[in-house]
Amino acid sequence: MIAVTGATGHLGRLVVTGLLDAGVPATDVVAVVRTPDKAADLAGRGVQVRPADYADAAALEAALTGVDRLLLVSGSEVGQRVPQHANVLQAAKADGVSLVVYTSAPKADDTPLPLAPEHIATERLIADFGIPAVVLRNNWYLENYDTQIEQAARTGELSSSSGGGRIAAATRADLAAAAVAVLTAEQPTPGVVELGGDQAFTIAELAETVAAETGRPVTHRDLTAAEHRQALLGAGLPEGTAEFVVGLDQAIAQGALDTGSRALSELTGRPTTTLAEYVHTVLGR
Ligand SMILES: NC(=O)c1ccc[n+]([C@@H]2O[C@H](COP(=O)([O-])OP(=O)(O)OC[C@H]3O[C@@H](n4cnc5c(N)ncnc54)[C@H](OP(=O)(O)O)[C@@H]3O)[C@@H](O)[C@H]2O)c1
Repeated sequence: MIAVTGATGHLGRLVVTGLLDAGVPATDVVAVVRTPDKAADLAGRGVQVRPADYADAAALEAALTGVDRLLLVSGSEVGQRVPQHANVLQAAKADGVSLVVYTSAPKADDTPLPLAPEHIATERLIADFGIPAVVLRNNWYLENYDTQIEQAARTGELSSSSGGGRIAAATRADLAAAAVAVLTAEQPTPGVVELGGDQAFTIAELAETVAAETGRPVTHRDLTAAEHRQALLGAGLPEGTAEFVVGLDQAIAQGALDTGSRALSELTGRPTTTLAEYVHTVLGR
């Protein structure tokens, strides 16, 4: 049996439906969810929906009974994720899970990304538990840029302080397909893989791509960190959010999302969704 945690989230849901599409019998798929009501559609397809919050060790152990391979989708409650993930791994160990697949962050062991410490701590926990594992260091979701793509198309402007930093973003669908490939592989190779788009891009190139799609110019404003912070505060963002966004851009400027890896398309056996294809989809909605 293959279990997926966070199965009612954006990524987890794509993995569960991807497993079904790959021919895994629904009865062999376990959706571990904290909100069973949100999984009615999955239950309707015959998937085993088992309730467990990452904070509930006993429920997790019950949920992973009989499970052979587990996708641990990293939680979304920042600051609480290490003990939560430890609970999942403890349950996996107790239930004899033979493979853990974990969704980590790009270059988690050597990065200025503010969100990485919980991911590297989880990678270390996985090693400590000694369960064979494939760590999927998922790059940024292309979906993270939806608002900026729409704004750029509307206003003809796009601002950032990420300079020439390249971003190997990929769609959730492509990243989910890679997880499905690992979970269904005859003999998955344990280790760490950096997953991202085949063609990393700068924010200036994102502006050019939006311009090409709309046929109207888009100016990229290449701001300093201080200018970017001021612009975000001026646009009404709370101080903490502005700091977070600028911090991310500084990390991107230092190459935090530029992994140069082709592992995603190698795992899925198809090229990743291009930036131009993605921008076309967003602006066509
Ligand atoms: N690469 C990126 O750009 C990027 C961006 C954002 C996040 N992430 C990371 O990737 C993960 C998956 O992304 P996503 O888009 O699928 O996020 P998402 O849609 O927010 O899904 C997160 C999932 O985790 C579940 N969850 C959160 N806390 C839980 C808890 N205490 N117990 C049990 N389940 C819990 C949520 O359950 P409910 O459905 O009940 O809410 C949801 O199903 C995120 O959780 C985050 O760690 C990556």
